[in-house]
Amino acid sequence: MTRFSKFYASSIGKKFIAAVTGLVLFGFLAGHVAGNLKVYTGADHVMVDGAEDAINVPHIDQYGHFLRVVGEPLVPKLFVLWGARVVLLLSVVLHIMVVVQLSMKSAEARPVDYVKSKKAAASWAARYMMVSGLIVLAFIIFHLLHFTAGVIVIGDFEEGKVYNNLRSSFRNPIVAIGYVVVMAMLAFHMYHGVWSLFQTLGLDNPDRNRFLRAFAIVASVGIAAGLASVPLAFLTGMLPDLGEYPSYLLEK
Ligand code: HEM
Repeated sequence: MTRFSKFYASSIGKKFIAAVTGLVLFGFLAGHVAGNLKVYTGADHVMVDGAEDAINVPHIDQYGHFLRVVGEPLVPKLFVLWGARVVLLLSVVLHIMVVVQLSMKSAEARPVDYVKSKKAAASWAARYMMVSGLIVLAFIIFHLLHFTAGVIVIGDFEEGKVYNNLRSSFRNPIVAIGYVVVMAMLAFHMYHGVWSLFQTLGLDNPDRNRFLRAFAIVASVGIAAGLASVPLAFLTGMLPDLGEYPSYLLEK
């Protein structure tokens, strides 16, 4: 057995992998919320030859374009984005593999009358983590087909026109509310995940626990609420129609 396979085979190794991959996904979501909040900063007004009015190029579209070209000319277009996608995909796969294996192990070790024991609360959280994790996984698949691949089209979809794609989808109340409900589940999943991560890393300690729990709540609810605000803002008409613009303006 190599050192890695010994580490992987142990419970602490799996917990560590769950914690590190969870941290990568948490970091992604912190960046994702910052990117999504650009819907609130509006657009740049670009004068195009012959146009009577300036044309709006939404900041979120410019940010999306930046993510596709970042690293150029050192590396080709989409290179950095695909690198990040591979890291994210590996993290999701590993995260699921280790948490499923850990929960199978703890189910085997569980005494028959565990429901009456003190472990009941912990096992409720573990079951909730499995269910919410599965829902978030189904959401991610739907979400990628929706806003990235444009395979599930609700309203209009045009690649790179992020603001208009969001606006067009979230004017549909079922879609907007569906996204908000998943974000509420995600908030709890992240909160419990961050708290478990502190325990796995051995950071928990009676002197610090109140602070660590508060940090886990503020970070998780903050990220989920920031994301959920986007469908709500479009649904309620808080965000304006910024109009159409020719895609070549993003290259400028
Ligand atoms: C209300 C909540 C959310 C909104 C409004 C939102 C919005 C978006 C948009 C507009 C895109 C496409 C960006 C582009 O084309 O440049 C996108 C991509 C993506 N989103 Fe979300 N998102 C939300 C929640 C989430 C959550 C909870 C996750 C993960 C758990 C997630 C994971 C992703 C991923 C992996 C991509 C693809 C990035 C790429 O590879 O290009 N999103 N999101």
